[in-house]
Amino acid sequence: MYLKSKVLTNEIEKKINNLLDKMTLEEKIGQLHQVGPSPVGAFDIPEAELKKMLETGRITQEEYELSKTDKILDKNEDKIRNGEIGSFLGLSDPKRINRLQRIAVEESRMGIPLLIGCDVIHGFNTVFPTPIAESCSFDDELFEQTASVAAKEARAAGINWVFAPMLDISRDARWGRIAESMGQDPFLAGNYAERKVRGFQGDDLSDNSKIAACAKHFLAYGACEGGKDYNTVDMSLSKLYDVYLPPFKRAVEAGIASIMTSFNDINGVPMTANKLLIKNVLHDELGFDGVVVSDATAVRELTVHGYSKDKYAAARDALCAGVDIDMNSYTYFDCLKELVEKGEVQIDNINEAVKSILRLKFALGLFDNPYCDFKKLNEVSCTNEHLALAKKAALHSTVLLKNNGVLPINKEKHKNISLIGELSDSISESYGCWTIYAKDEHTVTLKDALCKEGVQYTRCYGVKDELNEDEFKTATENADLIIAVLGESRHMSGEAHSYADISLPESQKSVVKRLKELGKPFICVLYNGRPLCVPEVDQSADAIVEAWQLGTKMGEALADIIFGRFNPCGKLTSNFPYKSGECPSYYNHPNTGRPAATDSDHWTCKYDDGRIKPIYSFGHGLSYTTFEYSELQIEKAESYLNVSVKITNSGNYDGYEVAQLYIHDKFASKVRPVRELKGYKKLYLRQGENKVVNFILPYSDLGFHNDKLEYVIEKGDFEIFVGTDSECELKSEFTL
Ligand code: BGC
Repeated sequence: MYLKSKVLTNEIEKKINNLLDKMTLEEKIGQLHQVGPSPVGAFDIPEAELKKMLETGRITQEEYELSKTDKILDKNEDKIRNGEIGSFLGLSDPKRINRLQRIAVEESRMGIPLLIGCDVIHGFNTVFPTPIAESCSFDDELFEQTASVAAKEARAAGINWVFAPMLDISRDARWGRIAESMGQDPFLAGNYAERKVRGFQGDDLSDNSKIAACAKHFLAYGACEGGKDYNTVDMSLSKLYDVYLPPFKRAVEAGIASIMTSFNDINGVPMTANKLLIKNVLHDELGFDGVVVSDATAVRELTVHGYSKDKYAAARDALCAGVDIDMNSYTYFDCLKELVEKGEVQIDNINEAVKSILRLKFALGLFDNPYCDFKKLNEVSCTNEHLALAKKAALHSTVLLKNNGVLPINKEKHKNISLIGELSDSISESYGCWTIYAKDEHTVTLKDALCKEGVQYTRCYGVKDELNEDEFKTATENADLIIAVLGESRHMSGEAHSYADISLPESQKSVVKRLKELGKPFICVLYNGRPLCVPEVDQSADAIVEAWQLGTKMGEALADIIFGRFNPCGKLTSNFPYKSGECPSYYNHPNTGRPAATDSDHWTCKYDDGRIKPIYSFGHGLSYTTFEYSELQIEKAESYLNVSVKITNSGNYDGYEVAQLYIHDKFASKVRPVRELKGYKKLYLRQGENKVVNFILPYSDLGFHNDKLEYVIEKGDFEIFVGTDSECELKSEFTL
């Protein structure tokens, strides 16, 4: 736990109590009040959007006027002086941050420094692949390294708190925020959580290359009904414990400093006021000892949910449930004083929250060293080392979905290669959501990277507009191979970008049709923040490269893969369903009493107009070489199973493979998923080389939660599958 860290000594606890004794009620409430640059959080909102918010009553006339200028921040300078603000979100200008810190430290009565929180989701100045992409690397070390670089760059800019990692298991690709997640598997998510916390925080938060992390969104935001953002969640607590809680548990065990509650309600109680899950589960059961922050304006929204009857009730409900900081809703600021004076909120509740926040400020070393040395920012950010890591991350996150042999491109054979599709010609499209801090000068687009290799680019079409016939003719008439970039723009995924239909726009489907009619080989490169339904591409293209949004080094990494200088090794962390209506689509589902064996099985669990299998399943990802699995062996030890398998690189390229281990508990008092990932190993094999890989599978990993929320490990028969994806067939059995 982070409180056990060496920084938080008894002496510091005394200092905290001393401060608390001297603080007025207003100053205490100030610590719980977080302010952002826009009325809904860290976004810069276009004026037209602000106008709509004003018209629909989401913001006041005053907020509207202020949001149009920088004044929303400047107006707060007096409040900092008065000790009425404890933290900011969304600031990234180091000079401004230092100015505000100086006011807090030198001009306010108590001299308490500010927390500066930012959405550093996949890199700061150096942009790494979006989380959904990076998760496909199945590379624990990489998860940690990219977080560590992001921490270093952000801290140098004066930011001391990141609103990451996002730990929402996401089984529904319609949900735009799947882009920010590590996909649909709790086991992978657990490792991801632990490594991200380590990468951001290290062992000592006061180290000026480390930063406080914030696991979000607690809890089950990814399970929003129908994949519609902010929507309600209704589920059994045992499922919540088995699927959605595990990454948070791992983050807490790794010492996460803060947790953000989610926008959704669970079983009727909004998470912002969910005492059961915040106090009883997060604090008491998991032992979390850090700061809880609400999501943006979520405290105020408790009234909109229909939970708290007015803003006073909302402030009381959130605080009493354990939400320490009100992110940008001004509800604590407006109401807590009166609530305490009327005896409706106990001062102890406020004191506990303040202490928790002060501990974090001490742990970060802010009392000794509140300012950043922004002159050093250039030395620290986008260094060669960071850029090399961005390249590595981009290479390892790319997933080869299909290949009939056209990839890697043989330049001897293909002399006239044509690249089409506007997405390839945009720096910002290489980034994906949440990349406001990106430094563009190091970014090479796919277009620029391929043109350097002699490929001809013609725009031909954008994301949604019709094909330009003249350009298409020019691009294709002499080409002997076409690379078509398809997919969605960066603004089609991320927060508030849920889609009911996740297939390609009609105009892009017709591009695919036209390419098919041409009869020339074509490769599709997909840019996207979520799994897409692409049956027409799967049926027509000779190869499909899932490029996601790979960040600063997107273009160069893809060029290396396309021309065979790097052998792709990414594996999907989400299913790619055949049709949007098949969402949620996840590999680790229960069998049901009537599973379908074929697409035409009647009276079975399936859609008449769908497919029983996704186009690409969890764990899928091809290589330019082939890997053979053999000699699967299981050895029982006292507390674990030792599973070994021989893997041979039987093809013509050296390369990485992600070996995956799945279990199936055949009969249990609660039906278990058909497969559950319980281990993975990434290894490098030269052509012809083989290695024996060992997985240690602790028996304690074989359990689940019953309806009394007890974790039970039941005796019985299990199947073990080991292979290259979640549909692998090499299998063995054992009895526990
Ligand atoms: C998002 C959070 C984010 C916060 C601050 C909210 O709208 O849900 O993930 O951290 O804004 O920007």
